[in-house]
Amino acid sequence: MEESGGTEAQKRRAGESAAGVVDDGDVVGLGTGSTAAAAIRELGRRVESGLDVRGVPTSHGARRLAREVGVPLTTLEAATPDVAVDGADQVADGDLVKGGGAAHTREKVVDAAADRFVVVVDAGKPAPALDHPVPVEALADAVPAVERRVETLGGAPTLRAAERKDGPVITDNGNPVLDCDFGVVDDPRALAAALDGIPGVVGHGLFVGLADEVHVGTDDGVEVR
Ligand code: 5RP
Repeated sequence: MEESGGTEAQKRRAGESAAGVVDDGDVVGLGTGSTAAAAIRELGRRVESGLDVRGVPTSHGARRLAREVGVPLTTLEAATPDVAVDGADQVADGDLVKGGGAAHTREKVVDAAADRFVVVVDAGKPAPALDHPVPVEALADAVPAVERRVETLGGAPTLRAAERKDGPVITDNGNPVLDCDFGVVDDPRALAAALDGIPGVVGHGLFVGLADEVHVGTDDGVEVR
């Protein structure tokens, strides 16, 4: 079947390109989201052709897809990823906002542990500066206090609502997520450190200085930055 939107084809190209950097014998961090899923599917095809890899999933979704397409799994306890492949909601100067799928806390653990972190995005994700709302996973009891601290940092927090369920989105770790709009983030490193310092914050979606390369899927091919 022909792909409908250009974006879907861009995501597929980016995912397949990143899966191509994986070598025989590698342990691979498996990201979450539709672009990372394209990489997992391509890894599944490569495994079918004889590639020997083991994946470390960043979410229930990534684990389920890896099982479906035949990518063998391992854990961070058993192995350090040689490479991690993961998507992003926005990219600027190599820094990222992640967490559109509310998987950013585990994604950061796996992506940061990898020797090489490859980001996969469609052409709509690169931006001149980060201004996408930053997802902040917080302990449920801490939400009001975290909201107040986010406001003092200049952010406007919104509790992420679930679809087809009353109440908030609950992450794989059992916590709600606040989408925090800071407008243009002038100093991502400083904001990341400030968010890390709020008691009750479990993880946030600012990934600063972690990405080694970004594969951008375009209508013609893939740009590696
Ligand atoms: C999940 C993420 C995703 O990688 C991010 O939301 C991008 O998703 P997609 O590739 O579907 O656009 O951070 O928590």
